[in-house]
Amino acid sequence: MTNPPPSTPTTAEPAIVQTIRQRTSWRAYTGEPLGDATLEQLRTAIAELETPFGNEPRFEILITAESGSIDLRGMATYGVLRNPPAFLAGAIAPGPHALEDFAFAFESIVLRATELGLGTCWIAGSFSRSRFSRALRLGVDELLPAISPLGQPTSERGLRDRLMRFSGGSQNRKPWSELFFDGDIAQPLTEAKAGQAYATALEMVRLGPSARNRQPWRIVRSDDGKHFDLYVFRESGLLTRVQPGGIDMARLDAGIALCHFERTARALGLPGEWRADEAPAGKVPEAFEFIASWQIA
Ligand SMILES: Cc1cc2nc3c(=O)[nH]c(=O)nc-3n(C[C@H](O)[C@H](O)[C@H](O)COP(=O)(O)O)c2cc1C
Repeated sequence: MTNPPPSTPTTAEPAIVQTIRQRTSWRAYTGEPLGDATLEQLRTAIAELETPFGNEPRFEILITAESGSIDLRGMATYGVLRNPPAFLAGAIAPGPHALEDFAFAFESIVLRATELGLGTCWIAGSFSRSRFSRALRLGVDELLPAISPLGQPTSERGLRDRLMRFSGGSQNRKPWSELFFDGDIAQPLTEAKAGQAYATALEMVRLGPSARNRQPWRIVRSDDGKHFDLYVFRESGLLTRVQPGGIDMARLDAGIALCHFERTARALGLPGEWRADEAPAGKVPEAFEFIASWQIA
């Protein structure tokens, strides 16, 4: 075997890492319908979903033009979205870690859609829950945490999208030093200390989408480096807890972090799993809410 030329990286980034880097929220669409092959690939991804804590969300692809008496255009998302030909919508029964499981699965579909060249945007606040509940035939015992448009993105962002991205600082992410810690929060976990593979998994958490781009995730490496404990930190206190539709956005953000970390770890061959049943060993402020620990197998 000949050696690769020097300009070729020897360890290519796994596809999932490229997809996570590529995803951004997109709010304007050409309106072109999703092709049958694309729909089929999305439905396959939905059928193969797994969740870390065993809750079972259900998902549907709603075609805007076929939504009949339930108008899913324009004001169904308060004018935030332009022309999406379809939506991903999902429901889950409330229960322990239900929102994290929902978000883990929803983000997996979002990433699959990104791979297929589609635009997406997590929408958990700015949409008509009543219209989408009817379209999804939501049960009395189910929550409807979020929807996302699915479709061909326009070649340039719409004005509204640009304004929302600007006001929310969507491109920005907090630095490592505010998000990742080693043992206790006085010790930042640097990329060098984490090692290349775990640094990549953590970086994928950092690049994840979050409601209002608040980035509530905090990760503390504990137990002599064998655990990565995920917490959420709600910067503006109680206000962020009360959410439209009774949905706790920080827990959705946490589920996205679980998804990005696990998918990256698996792609890099790092063995482990999420456990939520053991109190973590790291010392953290009281305001940190424990979600789950990645325990290295
Ligand atoms: C749980 C969650 C809820 C969100 N809700 C909305 C929403 O209601 N309306 C909206 O326009 N964007 C919403 N977003 C998109 C975020 O504003 C966006 O992900 C963030 O600003 C980062 O930008 P990016 O996704 O382009 O990286 C939501 C994102 C998440 C993760």
